[in-house]
Amino acid sequence: MSIEEQYVDSLYERDHMLELVKEGIESHGMPSISIADGYGRLLTMLVRLAGASNLLEIGALGGYSGICLARGLNEGGSLISLELLPAYAEVAKKHMIEAGLGDKVNYLIGDAKESLAKLKEEGRTFDFFFIDADKEGYPVYLDYAIQLAKPGALIVGDNILLRGRTIDEAKQGPAVKAVRSFNETIAKDERLESTILPGYDGLAIARVKG
Ligand SMILES: C[S@@+](CC[C@H](N)C(=O)[O-])C[C@H]1O[C@@H](n2cnc3c(N)ncnc32)[C@H](O)[C@@H]1O
Repeated sequence: MSIEEQYVDSLYERDHMLELVKEGIESHGMPSISIADGYGRLLTMLVRLAGASNLLEIGALGGYSGICLARGLNEGGSLISLELLPAYAEVAKKHMIEAGLGDKVNYLIGDAKESLAKLKEEGRTFDFFFIDADKEGYPVYLDYAIQLAKPGALIVGDNILLRGRTIDEAKQGPAVKAVRSFNETIAKDERLESTILPGYDGLAIARVKG
């Protein structure tokens, strides 16, 4: 984390619930790759500002971003979270319950591409998407998000800089290429208006034009 990011984080009160989530993730031997604290706060604000009530998250891990998303929901709003690993979804659910948000979330276990195809088949639509699973899948996840979006929906994607690999021409692996393609679509697709924040590991924010 940069000293500027550390300074900004130091201004905020400690978030005991989110600290417990990070400890829980570690104690279950899961990777410490939850969204950055500052972007977690931004997720809550974006959901609230958008008045979003049907959220779709791709990549749950231990529920850190799920809590941030669900905190911004109105009464009656809900979150569907797609997670490959049942054990991770179980930890995430436990943390959501501990945060008092257990009734807001449903997990769909398995490869997100299959879950997304199923949601499309069912005619489901959403007004907020958070993309944060395997990076190779980002272009497909974005494509599905646009298809499942209500007019004006927000699409947020994390880790679009891949700790510098995205801008390193020497890196040509499948994840890097996929994220570059995702970023190009975010910036150039005429169905979207967008911005990309380069802080932490980079965050893309797009609005599907109504
Ligand atoms: C970066 S972590 C998510 C972090 C979480 N969004 C947060 O900030 O708290 C990525 C998650 O995506 C899941 N994942 C990886 N590939 C996936 C796939 N094909 N379908 C669904 N989930 C996947 C991983 O198991 C992991 O839990």
